[in-house]
Order: sequence, then C-alpha cells, then structure tokens
Amino acid sequence: MGVKTAVLISGRGSNLKALIDAAQGNPGYPAEIACVISNKPDAPGLFMARKAGIHAIGLNHRDYKDRKAFEDAIQALLEKYECELVVLAGFMRLLTPEFTARWYGKMINIHPSLLPSFKGAYAHRDALASGVCISGCTVHFVSPEMDAGPIILQAAVPVLEEDTESSLAARVLVQEHRCLPYALKLLAEGRLHIKGMKVEINPATVHTAPPALLNPPLEME
Ligand code: GAR
Repeated sequence: MGVKTAVLISGRGSNLKALIDAAQGNPGYPAEIACVISNKPDAPGLFMARKAGIHAIGLNHRDYKDRKAFEDAIQALLEKYECELVVLAGFMRLLTPEFTARWYGKMINIHPSLLPSFKGAYAHRDALASGVCISGCTVHFVSPEMDAGPIILQAAVPVLEEDTESSLAARVLVQEHRCLPYALKLLAEGRLHIKGMKVEINPATVHTAPPALLNPPLEME
C-alpha cells in the first residue's frame, strides 16, 4: 500500500486517469489514490474513479456559505480517508491561504503552461496570443498565490503555426500525463525538498541533459 493520496478535480479527469493507471498498474508505485473529490458533482472523472474502485465524492462548492466552509468539508474527507498527500488535477477552484498553508509541501498542482508564464484558467489562449514558440506544462507545489509555488518539473512542446487552443492543449496534455504521475512518485518517495522557490530532488534523478527543443528548427545547421 502506497502513501494515501487525494486527487481533487473539476471535470474530465484525464490526469486523474494517468494517476490511477500509474498507481494501480505498477506494483512498486509509492502512492495510492485513496479518494477523489470534485467540486462538480457530475464531473466525468468521478464516474471513472468509481469504476476503478476508488471513493469518489462530489462536493458542490455552491452548497457552502463560503470558501472556508467548502474547504472544511474537503478537509473532513481528507481526514476520513487518511490522506497524507493531495494532487490538484484540473481542480478549478481557488484555495484559501489557510488551506494551502496547512498542506504546504504535501499538495501539488498541474498547470498547462511553462510557469511563471500564463498563470490562470486560460493558459493555452494566453500562450497563443503571446506568440511564444514553445509552451508546455508544470507540476508545482501549491502555495497561497495561484500557480506560483516551487516548481517540481516541466515539459516543453512546440507551438505550431496552425495551432488552435484545442490542438495545443492536446499536445501539452500528453506531457501532463507523463509528468504528474512522476511528480507524485517523487513526492510519495520523500525525494522532494523545498529550498525557497527551488525544489531539490534527493537523490538527484540520473539523467543526461536532454537536447534543446528549438522551434522553429534552425535551417542553417
Ligand atoms: C489539464 O490540462 C490541467 O493542466 C488544467 O486543466 C486540465 C484538466 O484536464 N488545469 C488548469 O488549468 C489549472 N489551472 P483533466 O481533467 O483531463 O485532467
């Protein structure tokens, strides 16, 4: 049994599925998805989690008088299912500084841009509008300021001339599904150490530096 982890979602749940596949498909995976919570009770991700045999709870934020009451209900579920870690996987509600402080170092988020660029709910639209040639995704610790906590890992993809929000989102999503299960593995193994805004991985990941991603490619080399 791995470290009990809650996943918070608001919709489709494709990142949640990547986490479930990693946790249920690899005997050595160090985290276990103990519950899934959605602020949208009809989120497809909830149904998918139930099919996978996971406690999946819809908590409509509109049923609570304020953010604190909503978060108290989340906290009660995290305690009920004895969760030690929390993953925000497409969870589209802002969390209060009190809640983020309580879970600091134990709660991570996936965001579909190379932070600190393009924070917020319209990352792909903003990336396309800015003219960047490269975008990607970021997994980071959650801090009180939205999309601004210490960065754990990032993946980059090219932005193509003909891209729409949905074609760029699809290209980034493939990388999200690789990054998020890996980041949770590092966290559950106790290998992530926050040093200010930096995250140290101990022991360090063994790698040779990847080649640069150039977009457009240089025709002169
Ligand atoms: C993902 O692309 C995730 O990065 C994004 O929502 C999508 C959820 O998809 N999150 C944010 O924009 C958070 N600001 P999913 O439900 O299929 O995992």
